[in-house]
Order: sequence, then structure tokens, then C-alpha cells
Amino acid sequence: MSGEQIGIAGAGRIGQALGRLLRERGEPVAAVASRTLERARAAAAFIGGGAEPVSYSQLPGCATRVLIAIPDQAIASVAATLAGAGMAGGMALHTCGAHGAEILAPLAARGVSCAALHPLQTVASPERGVAELPGASFAIEGEGPALDWAARIAGLLQGQMLRIPPGRRPLYHAAAVLASNCVVGLLDAAVVLLGECGIDREQALRALAPLARASVSNTAALGPIQALTGPIERGDAGTVAVHLRSLAGVPGSVGELYRQCGLYLAGLARRKSPGADFRELEQLLREGRKDHE
Ligand SMILES: NC(=O)c1ccc[n+]([C@@H]2O[C@H](COP(=O)([O-])OP(=O)(O)OC[C@H]3O[C@@H](n4cnc5c(N)ncnc54)[C@H](OP(=O)(O)O)[C@@H]3O)[C@@H](O)[C@H]2O)c1
Repeated sequence: MSGEQIGIAGAGRIGQALGRLLRERGEPVAAVASRTLERARAAAAFIGGGAEPVSYSQLPGCATRVLIAIPDQAIASVAATLAGAGMAGGMALHTCGAHGAEILAPLAARGVSCAALHPLQTVASPERGVAELPGASFAIEGEGPALDWAARIAGLLQGQMLRIPPGRRPLYHAAAVLASNCVVGLLDAAVVLLGECGIDREQALRALAPLARASVSNTAALGPIQALTGPIERGDAGTVAVHLRSLAGVPGSVGELYRQCGLYLAGLARRKSPGADFRELEQLLREGRKDHE
């Protein structure tokens, strides 16, 4: 399999990072496609090893294995473009989390083996992807040679494979949103509150990052129940009431975010201390009362 040429469809963060990582591991990355030659050239330079910059319709002429790394909403139309350009046989993977192999139907109809390979990692730039994709988990779905290729890529990157049952991929992807994007949103909300205390953004992020890192690492090491600390874990309704009163004066949805997260955490606290009474705390969080003492 490793001798069959690889084409990367998409010149973005994932396409460039995976292209470079595969090339560095001895895989024959022959070409990278973009809608503009200029961006394909830049991606080819990043991937290295003489990868050719091409258009999507030129890609089937360069490769029998195609890795599609483009925004979710464009995958079906690029799959149709590749099929229209003569791709038949061979294999195709896409890197989207929410969909399975079915989104590559135009290629499957031409005898292309299709699968999905979603890196469970956040990739903010090609360079960060090269550093952070090795060792990540990869959700794979599909069948036949494309599934074997997906497993091979996960193995080349020392990744853990997650087999997601058909129909469950949206739930898997929602989990990824919670563990990654929502953490970003929660940190931004914390920065907003520190801004209300007169602390600038840069200093706030520097201050919050070790706290967030320790929370993630404690959760990974001990599990969420043991890692949970703070006023909600202690059932401290008085402190939470003071928070809610102050949050009522903060513009935007930070207060609502605090209440919804707080309610989830109260459920976790109940599991940690089954005998304790969290009713007052939960009532407060549900109502968002501003006048509680
Ligand atoms: N970034 C992440 O953290 C991450 C993590 C896991 C999975 N993924 C998945 O990987 C895929 C790619 O994500 P990404 O972050 O690499 O995206 P990206 O950096 O925005 O790059 C996407 C590439 O797709 C091309 N493109 C955009 N719209 C297109 C269209 N309508 N038709 C054809 N090509 C189009 C663009 O190339 P041109 O404009 O040059 O044509 C762009 O280079 C997505 O399915 C995403 O869900 C991303």
C-alpha cells in the first residue's frame, strides 16, 4: 500500500500537517490540491518532498489514494469533482468529524473504497499540527482498503484508534466540541471577567493557563469526580450566590454560561458526595437569583 501515490485534497491546516507528517514517515505524497494554484504551491512547499501543486480535478491523475481535508460543507462537492475528473478504484479518506464515509458517495459509486479518519486534536496551524497530531486519537469509520489505510495512518502517527459505530459520529463530534472548543470559550469568558477586574487579556491568559492545564491534567489522571474542586463541589451556596449577583452586572452571556456549567457541576458534585444536600445550590443556579444572601 505504501507505494501507491497519495494526493491531498485541501491546502489548509490539516491537509498540510498530515501531508508533511506522512511524507516524513516515508509515504509517497505526490500532490496537493487547492482551488488556487498559489495556495497549492504554498502547501506543496510546506509538505516538501517534491509534492506537486495541482487543482482538484488534476488530483486523480497524480494519486490513487486521496486524503480530503477541506471544510465539512465542501466535501460532497469535491468528492463529486474528483469522481467527475475520472477517479475510479483506489481509495479516499476525509478528515471531518461529524460525517462518516457516506459523504463520499460520488466516489464510492465509482468503485473507490471510502472511509473517514478524524484526528481528535485541535490544529490551529500547519506547524502546530505537525507537532501535535502524533500521539492523538483518530476516529475511523468505513470499510475495505480505505479503512486499512486510515488505520495505517493512525499507526504511523502513534495514534489511538477509536471505532465509532455508524450513526454515532455526530455524538462523537459533539464530544470533541465540548472537550476542545468549549474549553476555549470558557477560558475566553474567564478572561472577560478578569478584564472586569482590570487585568488585561495577555496577563489574564498567562494567569489562567496554568489553572486550566492543572484541571485538565488532574481530570485525566484522577477522573472528573476526584478532580472537581471549588465552591460547587463544596456545596457552598453562599459563595455561588455572591458570584451570581456580581455576574448579573456583566454584559453578554457569561452569567448564563456560569449557571449552565454550574448546574452540570452540581450533578458531578452529587455523584462525589451522595449524602450531601445540593438543593439550595441547584435552585440558585436554576433561577440565577441576584438577591440571595
Ligand atoms: N483544524 C482542526 O482543528 C481540525 C481537527 C480535526 C479535523 N478537522 C477537519 O479537517 C477538515 C479541514 O479542516 P482545516 O482546519 O484543515 O480547514 P482549513 O484550514 O480551513 O483548510 C481547508 C481547505 O479547504 C479548502 N476549501 C475551502 N472551501 C472549499 C470549497 N468550498 N471547496 C473546495 N475546497 C475548499 C481551502 O483551500 P483553498 O481555499 O486553498 O482551496 C482550505 O485550504 C475539516 O473537515 C475539519 O472538520 C479539522
